[in-house]
Amino acid sequence: MRKTLVVGNWKMHKNLTESQALITEIRGIVRDEFRHNHAQIVICPTALALASSARLVEGSEITIGAQNVNEHKEGAYTGEWSAAMLKSAGVTHAIIGHSERRQYYNETSAVCALKNKAAVTEELIAIYCIGESLSERENNQFLEVLQLQLEEGLDSISADEMNVVVIAYEPVWAIGTGKTATAQQAQDIHAFVRQWLAGKYGQPVADATRILYGGSVKPDNAKDIFGQPDIDGGLIGGASLKPRDFFDIIRAAQ
Ligand code: 13P
Repeated sequence: MRKTLVVGNWKMHKNLTESQALITEIRGIVRDEFRHNHAQIVICPTALALASSARLVEGSEITIGAQNVNEHKEGAYTGEWSAAMLKSAGVTHAIIGHSERRQYYNETSAVCALKNKAAVTEELIAIYCIGESLSERENNQFLEVLQLQLEEGLDSISADEMNVVVIAYEPVWAIGTGKTATAQQAQDIHAFVRQWLAGKYGQPVADATRILYGGSVKPDNAKDIFGQPDIDGGLIGGASLKPRDFFDIIRAAQ
């Protein structure tokens, strides 16, 4: 039985004071309203706010994730941070290969493979993102694109290590556009990903791996999306910055 997971990705929003206020507000709602059948909760603020956020959520149902991690252990890599450093700040998860990082920072699936490996080696849960662009969808190339992202990004991850990997399917055309994949479109891709996982790692690993959907998830479409058999939660952008909306999404994912 896979535990549903809802991850809030704040992207580059909120300064330190605002981040602390938002974390505190979400923590308050969760304290008052969280029920055991609601989804597991991870919040990914900017790097600046990771350590203080991790302290603020101590003892709550929430844990903290990073939006990126470097593939190296340490060294002369200005502006970067390692998986072990994230762990030392109380961070539990790291988003890897988000489409915005692929698009603006030239992250390839080959680099993501190293980042996934670096994360799982430190037992930091890797949330590995895949997704096709609008033109790839329209040209009917999307299954090949997704398969390649899976093959390359998970290249050196063993079946045992998959217990610290989560896959997130985020069609690029649905991110921040208000355009959501239909629940059926998303389910079809999730089933495809699970089948691919079964082929590489065997059915028990495929059955145990959580596959999240991301792209314009809101309180009013969350239930429909999370109701699909192969969708195990969501990666939430815009709506995760609104505490009430974010919690309503967490509640919709049971
Ligand atoms: P939106 O929910 O704003 O579409 O963003 C999705 C996303 O990119 C989460 O990582």
